[in-house]
Amino acid sequence: MSVHSEIKKITTETLRKMKFDKEKITMLTAYDFTTAKMVDAGGVDSILIGDSAANVMAGFETTLPITLDQMIYHTQCVVRGVERALVVADLPFGTYQSNPEKALESAVRMMKEGGAHAIKIEGGKEIEDSIRKIVNAGIPVCGHLGLTPQSIYQFGTYKVRAKEDAEAEKLIADCKLLEELGCFAIVLEKIPAALAKRASESISIPTIGIGAGQDCDGQVLVYHDMVGMNQGFSPKFLRRYLDLYTEVTGAVSQYVKDVKSSDFPNEKESY
Ligand code: KIV
Repeated sequence: MSVHSEIKKITTETLRKMKFDKEKITMLTAYDFTTAKMVDAGGVDSILIGDSAANVMAGFETTLPITLDQMIYHTQCVVRGVERALVVADLPFGTYQSNPEKALESAVRMMKEGGAHAIKIEGGKEIEDSIRKIVNAGIPVCGHLGLTPQSIYQFGTYKVRAKEDAEAEKLIADCKLLEELGCFAIVLEKIPAALAKRASESISIPTIGIGAGQDCDGQVLVYHDMVGMNQGFSPKFLRRYLDLYTEVTGAVSQYVKDVKSSDFPNEKESY
């Protein structure tokens, strides 16, 4: 028996069962082979190639500029590093909103060329036909509600969403609709904890929260944020597990000193 066949791969069905068994689901982003390997080895259940790649990999202010080709490239890199986790890839802005045929085409490319196990798209009722079309083609879809960063120019701010009744009720209705359409999970971003709890209890598919409190069925964070690579980004919901920015800049400045002083390389480090 090969080593690979001993690893029990996480599937959308595994996530559904985890919700049923009240076992929390863990998800982190990754955008490259080496990080994906570490994140998978750390034991997360799912790896998301988020369009946050536009921010943390490419330095854009919003997620809007990243293209489908670029997301496919990141996904290919991640897939090569993953043995166990369910790999979910974002469809970027403009690749699924205009019509269901285009949405299916984008999702098929992400699965076929990227090698993703599932795709994630932002929105509820507005993109109902696109979700239906993708799910009917046999592609697992993860929804994304609440603060949906692809709509940032409509929102005007990254503040908490659905604090008002009307938006909260729409979010609950959208959760139920996404479940009905066959989505296997829903990311809930930056909404009040009480609303996320209500949403999680109102559907049988898992909710995965980011800034949505502890009653979601799982949690997701952006890898660069949780390992402390982003000094300038400190939302209340973020827990930093490392201070990699300080560690890495410290290591780099030590390397610079060592080279300048001819301490590196020494004899043992030479042939
Ligand atoms: O793009 C992303 O990283 C995301 C997560 C924040 C959920 O959508």
